[in-house]
Amino acid sequence: MTPVPGSLTLAAPAKVNLYLRVLGRRPDGYHDLDSVFHTVGLADEVRLEDAPGEGFTLTCSEKALEDPENLCLQAARALREHLEALGHPAAGRGARIHLTKRIPAGAGLGGGSSDAAAVLNGLNRLWELDFRPATLAGIGATLGSDVPFFLYGGAARVGGRGERVTPVPPRSGTWCLLVHPGVAVSTAAVYAAHDKAREVVGEAMGLTARAGAPIMSPAPEAAGPGAEAPGAESAPVAAFFNDLEAAACRVAPEIGKALAALREAGGGEARMTGSGAAVFCLADSRAVLEETGRRLHPPPHWNLWIVPLTAAEGS
Ligand code: C5P
Repeated sequence: MTPVPGSLTLAAPAKVNLYLRVLGRRPDGYHDLDSVFHTVGLADEVRLEDAPGEGFTLTCSEKALEDPENLCLQAARALREHLEALGHPAAGRGARIHLTKRIPAGAGLGGGSSDAAAVLNGLNRLWELDFRPATLAGIGATLGSDVPFFLYGGAARVGGRGERVTPVPPRSGTWCLLVHPGVAVSTAAVYAAHDKAREVVGEAMGLTARAGAPIMSPAPEAAGPGAEAPGAESAPVAAFFNDLEAAACRVAPEIGKALAALREAGGGEARMTGSGAAVFCLADSRAVLEETGRRLHPPPHWNLWIVPLTAAEGS
């Protein structure tokens, strides 16, 4: 696409969680995580046009998302507040945002968070603000737990509630078969179901599962053969585990059906991403996943994509 002065078009990629360990509930109600996030080659498109003095507007390929509370608009407003607090001359600028959606919502693929991060990155470039990713990630963390990761992209080990992002080398030559079983799940509902199950187990074991004193999970590096240690040289190749999977399958049983179908079709290490509902498996060739996809026989309301794991833009 030919660049137009005063405008910018960015890809806002989806992510998968190669592993996701929930370490425990925090006093603020969120959960501390240990996870490796990796961007994939399925992306929304965010177009930004400078609109001095016009405030922020949003148009979207899905009309229902043209809402003042859309994370794209929240991101633009949060950046403006940051600029105002600094007394920065760009605080008075506005932008027209156009969003083309391809990533399904409520899928654990981080679509809304990635769109918000693209707005922060894009306005940073369009307005030549020169903020570092860490500064934008600080603003992004106020919008949603996954936003800081998307300010970096590629592969990263993510901790805290999502605000601690340590980039790790991305995997090259790895392909991902994504299966979306046609249902959207609420992240909050999945975490609540996860907590409920832990309370039941905790009570049965005579333990108290209260906020801030979780029943701890084993460390990720103890969780499976081949799992790589903290500060790993590169993101792990297999999707080893996702602590939210059982809870998500209770919230939306279609997820369990998708996982079973994917495993039966040959996607051995099939896992859910984030809090669901999408599931995926990895292979080092696209052809292998095309064969798995053919054996899957998905019902018409499921969506499939075969996409590469991707590096951060510009790396
Ligand atoms: O931060 P975000 O808006 O994406 O979180 C949505 C919901 O997911 C939160 O309200 C919370 O219930 C849950 N969540 C959590 N711990 C995290 C991330 C999200 O409990 N680390």
